[in-house]
Amino acid sequence: MKFSVVQADIKDQAVDCLVVDWFEGESAPARAGAWVDKALDGALQALVAGGDFTGKAGTTALLYTNGKLNAPRVLVVGLGKVAKYDNRAARMAAATAGRALTRLKGIKSFASVVPGAGEGPLSPWQAAQAFAEGIVLAFYQPPLYKREAADPRPETCVVVDFHGERLVEFQQAIADGQAIAESANTARDLSNEPPNVLNPVEMAARARAMAKRVGLRCTVLGESEMASEKMNILLAVSRGSVNEAQLVILEHRPAKSKNAPPLVIVGKGITFDTGGISIKGSERMEEMKHDMSGAAAVIGAMEAIARLDLPQRVIGVAACVENMPDGNAFRPGDILTGMTGKTTEILSTDAEGRLILADALAYVKRFEPAAVVDLATLTGAIGIALGSLAAGLFYNSEALKDALLHASDRSGERLWPMPMYEEYMEFIKGDMAEVKNSGGRGGGVATSAKFIEHFTEGYPWAHLDIASTAWTTADKDAVNPKGATGYGVRLLVELARAFDAATIPALSEGEQGA
Ligand code: BES
Ligand code: MN
Ligand code: ZN
Repeated sequence: MKFSVVQADIKDQAVDCLVVDWFEGESAPARAGAWVDKALDGALQALVAGGDFTGKAGTTALLYTNGKLNAPRVLVVGLGKVAKYDNRAARMAAATAGRALTRLKGIKSFASVVPGAGEGPLSPWQAAQAFAEGIVLAFYQPPLYKREAADPRPETCVVVDFHGERLVEFQQAIADGQAIAESANTARDLSNEPPNVLNPVEMAARARAMAKRVGLRCTVLGESEMASEKMNILLAVSRGSVNEAQLVILEHRPAKSKNAPPLVIVGKGITFDTGGISIKGSERMEEMKHDMSGAAAVIGAMEAIARLDLPQRVIGVAACVENMPDGNAFRPGDILTGMTGKTTEILSTDAEGRLILADALAYVKRFEPAAVVDLATLTGAIGIALGSLAAGLFYNSEALKDALLHASDRSGERLWPMPMYEEYMEFIKGDMAEVKNSGGRGGGVATSAKFIEHFTEGYPWAHLDIASTAWTTADKDAVNPKGATGYGVRLLVELARAFDAATIPALSEGEQGA
């Protein structure tokens, strides 16, 4: 997709389709639409007056121009109520237009204004960024293993600004939005790839190739290097697999902040989760190819952070492991000692995400992080609690929580704060080892987070359980088509972009956890 931003009148554009917006409850189209309406002898007004189109969010209508304009079609898109036109609504409206365009025949080019850049609560910059994100996310297509070609997608989008006052601002905001959404699509690609293709070694290779392309430092540790680091809990999860585990470390280190305490993001990268010896039922087990979505989000976010060339220092760590049953696999009952020296008893080899995170989170201590955020498809229970509408947010730092909620607002990727009561620690106290890797059904989400916190070693930290938001079995909305959603990339980029280490105080004694 190529965006160009021009000073022009939308009605003159010689493209395959014009996109015209309509706020719900308005009796006339805004600015640009009015000229299109006039050229069409009031066809837009008639559409609304007739009650067939109301401007409700998520709706579209199509008109043919019959030679009255240079473009053969006009797509009318409902923006919803002006007062509710926030970041999320703007992205959704653009994606609604994008999805409608993909369903029309032969659209190679289209033109649009930046909807809501003048009205509603959004700044022109935010409106333009959200517009580009919505379009690029809606045009996503997963990797295709078929001999036929994929459906073609529109190639160019002409963004018009009638007065031309905001050309530069729009250009920059659209470039940002495009980079962010393309990076979310990178994460989607990784999660959608079949598990025989995307094993830990392939995942590391793709991260390395991306790093080279965008200019990130990349280091990959194999199993022998991880053994030297005593990452024996992570390595135990990998033991049943013939595919070697990989720890991918990506660093964005701008000259100005090269010694600043970094923001560190860590992702669970189980490239396939069979459950191991505590094997899962076979129903929908194929979906466990996306159990690396946390790591995919980290890799995608690092791509965007490099492409935007953010001034903040950010380190991304992807812990890539396959969880398989085998004669050499780890077992329930095993007691393991990882990098921190803390011991854990295995109750279920299917509670493997928290195990690999235990060592990955111990590893990142060496970066002296200002804050650490991990993302993991950790528990089925988070979907029982929140459905697929929000990821669960666990944290030991109020300041980091606030920064994440701000990023959530900007990105439209919802988070909901969850409790971390001390008492949950009792649920996972081990008999022979310090902790056990499952606390039973009650409070299952909270105890998984408590287990991870036990291995965090004193830095401000947050954990995002994305098990119910990283994947959708059917088209969820215009932004999120069936399959991997890329959840977390946009959120992490907005977190990094606004990140200021000075606003995240070191943990007090009381916040250090158990
Ligand atoms: N990868 C799964 C969690 C999951 C479930 C992700 C559904 C995406 C969709 C995780 O490793 C797991 O198996 N969790 C167990 C934990 C239990 C054994 C304590 C679960 O949630 O049942
Ligand atoms: Mn599991
Ligand atoms: Zn898992």
